[in-house]
Amino acid sequence: MVFPFRKAAQPVLRPLRSDRAAQCAALHAASFAHGWSAQEFESLISAANVSGEAAVDPASGRLRGFVLTRLAADEAEILTVAVDAALRRRGVGRALLAAHMARLASLGVKKLFLEVEQDNAAALALYARFGFREVGQRKGYYRKSDGAPATALVLRRDLL
Ligand SMILES: CC(C)(COP(=O)(O)OP(=O)(O)OC[C@H]1O[C@@H](n2cnc3c(N)ncnc32)[C@H](O)[C@@H]1OP(=O)(O)O)[C@@H](O)C(=O)NCCC(=O)NCCS
Repeated sequence: MVFPFRKAAQPVLRPLRSDRAAQCAALHAASFAHGWSAQEFESLISAANVSGEAAVDPASGRLRGFVLTRLAADEAEILTVAVDAALRRRGVGRALLAAHMARLASLGVKKLFLEVEQDNAAALALYARFGFREVGQRKGYYRKSDGAPATALVLRRDLL
């Protein structure tokens, strides 16, 4: 029997591996004005100093969200976070960040940074929930889809 109203199962979290590069590129392209290619994701995910988490649909195995971070000594920078638009506001971003930050802390990361467009209300609210604080601004750092410059806010969260 089919239950059309049944809620989809919550994605499960896994370490992000390079065989997900094409799915990362597709999800990223659907989430940002300027996407990164599957090749770019493959070399990033394969790099020794990069770590990521994947949120995977338990039934289909499809990627529904991911986060990717570059580490350097005891500092790290979140490079990107994206959740499938159909699954947003269901706690997937929060679950990804919580698991990822715990792993980064276990790897010895003390200071975590990221850049976020100042108009990205969803991301800013998510990061505020996790205690990130603004430590700088980069004017004209991003280009919107119409080519207009946009300011990046630099956020920081101490892990230890
Ligand atoms: C930002 C993003 C990853 C959040 O993922 P998500 O799975 O929807 O987030 P969650 O459901 O876990 O939400 C966690 C908290 O973030 C905040 N938040 C998330 N989306 C929000 C929105 N649209 N408006 C306001 N607050 C929002 C809320 O505080 C929320 O907690 P609540 O639902 O209990 O109020 C998702 O919106 C996304 O992929 N956006 C496009 C890509 C992007 O902008 N990435 C960040 C680049 S720096």
